[in-house]
Amino acid sequence: MDYLQIKKVKSLKGDIKISGAKNASLPLIAMTILAKNSVHIKNLPNVADIKTLLKLLSNLGAECSFHDDRVIVDTSSLAQTKAKYDIVKTMRASILVLGPILTRFGHCEVSLPGGCAIGQRPVDLHLKALEQMGATIYIKSGYIEATAPNGLKGCDIIFDKITVTGTANIVMAASLAKGITTLTNAAREPEVVQLCEVLNSSGVKIEGIGTAVLTIHGTDSKLLDIDEFSVIADRIEAGTYLCAGAISKDELTLTNVDAGHLGAVLSKLEEMGSSFSITEDTITIHPSKIIKPVKITTQEYPAFPTDMQAQFLALATQAEGTSIIEEKLFENRFMHVSELQRMGADISLNGSVATIKGETPLSGTDVMATDLRASSALVLAGLVADGMTNVHRIYHLDRGYDALEKKLGAVGADIKRLQE
Ligand code: UD1
Repeated sequence: MDYLQIKKVKSLKGDIKISGAKNASLPLIAMTILAKNSVHIKNLPNVADIKTLLKLLSNLGAECSFHDDRVIVDTSSLAQTKAKYDIVKTMRASILVLGPILTRFGHCEVSLPGGCAIGQRPVDLHLKALEQMGATIYIKSGYIEATAPNGLKGCDIIFDKITVTGTANIVMAASLAKGITTLTNAAREPEVVQLCEVLNSSGVKIEGIGTAVLTIHGTDSKLLDIDEFSVIADRIEAGTYLCAGAISKDELTLTNVDAGHLGAVLSKLEEMGSSFSITEDTITIHPSKIIKPVKITTQEYPAFPTDMQAQFLALATQAEGTSIIEEKLFENRFMHVSELQRMGADISLNGSVATIKGETPLSGTDVMATDLRASSALVLAGLVADGMTNVHRIYHLDRGYDALEKKLGAVGADIKRLQE
């Protein structure tokens, strides 16, 4: 198994090119199930989750060719409609194929994703909405079995909670449905916006893009003609490298990035003392020599993202004062805390609130990655910890960070991928 060995950083300097967003790519790849043509997607990140979803589509009969950051997906040969446990268990986002397969073929089976490290993560809202659209759904032997032999019908859906993949799933299901679907309390994440924009330019009229109420005019089973497009930049990868600049107190420039998607993250870094120079597709962080403490509550976009909570927690260990971070979305998303404590961090946890006493010198040791974003928090801590930090179980990190050690290595970090 691979692990990362990180030595305390002397200084970071230079440019980091941000990859395409994993969380945008996944629904966009699932969306190819709605197409009648081969779909060309550019600027995909080279991460394990993308390969997993392409493998799932290939297993279902689609043809996928992935080179560099591009893929061509042809789903005209897709013949199977059962997403099996062995793939779904490795990536919960596999649930994204449910809406498109069901709306196109009238039936679909997807293994129940089950729990995951950061919490229970149910998919009840996806299923309830599909039932409202006319699907019959049973849970049998660990599988969701959904049928809609006469196709799905547009209707009014109100999500009890904002769900990102739930919104993507229902928007895709509604795209080939008969009639109009209105989805209220929809997610407004940039990744959902891009999915809606691509669908909108491929023959599905969608109103309210970027708002909490989406109106989707279904095509009544007419497959879509989807032009080549490029995936938006990964705002979470970008946020992670901004935290690398902030924690090492070194200037870094990110390229191929969209600052418009990073409002809450930039504003919290500003509160902590950093400033920025921003162009259309670059952000340069000018970190301050003193990191100020911060109060953060994670919430749905455009508020502060839960996917940046762990990285800011690592940064807060170096602040001059006490920071408070509240996690509102996932009940168990603090597993990085015990690993950071092993490095010397002074953090106390009370339910969903972490209190971090800053100015604690961290010392390098062996730590274990527990989920995707927790892994990058340990890497950030490793940059400033005395001595050497070994981050184990980085298969979590590889799910979502494209060439992290190469990107950080190229700007001066002493970081190596080694084998146990
Ligand atoms: C997506 C992101 C993930 C991010 C999360 C929140 C992808 C592939 N993943 O995950 O990186 O951390 O959004 O921004 O885009 N919920 C229910 N019932 C449901 C669905 C969700 O109760 O049917 C709850 C969840 O348990 C959670 C909250 O709603 O508490 C938000 O979850 P959701 O937005 O669905 O997260 P994902 O789409 O899985």
